Amino acid sequence: MRTDLKEKNTQVPSNNVHNFLVAESLIDELVKRAFGMRQYAYAPYSGIKVGAALLAKNGEIYGGCNIENAAYGPSNCAERTAFFKAISEGNREFAAIAIVGGPEEGVKDFCPPCGVCRQVMAEFCSPDEFYIILAKSIEEKKIFTLEQLFPESFKPSHVE
Ligand code: THU
Repeated sequence: MRTDLKEKNTQVPSNNVHNFLVAESLIDELVKRAFGMRQYAYAPYSGIKVGAALLAKNGEIYGGCNIENAAYGPSNCAERTAFFKAISEGNREFAAIAIVGGPEEGVKDFCPPCGVCRQVMAEFCSPDEFYIILAKSIEEKKIFTLEQLFPESFKPSHVE
């Protein structure tokens, strides 16, 4: 069983953008847009500014940033901001999301999506055909399928 899991992971190279359905130039465009969205982040409590760029299947790109709140709980992550913008405008088919985050001074680490955002992705995105692009810069990227970051997820099919 463990061997199966290992094989499955190595079949989907998480660092090789050439093997993915989303063109590399588009990936770079998404990463740039995600970096650009950091300027709008409202993060006075954590100081962590996150930007996201969500690519819909029709080519539309929706930007998002994190929006914090003095009561902490109502805070929204950059990814969910992007998803909710798209969905509230009638777009529900997605291909990929780029995410960048870190302190105001600069992005030093990859910024993986939190569990709540992964759950929102699982509601609308195909596990094997939705790509999550984490970036520290245009050059330093890691790409995962949703299935890799959120296996065995609870999906709409479970409440049918
Ligand atoms: N945050 C995001 O916006 N996306 C992530 O993927 C991880 C965390 C935000 C939430 C909060 O405003 C700040 O980063 C620190 O947790």
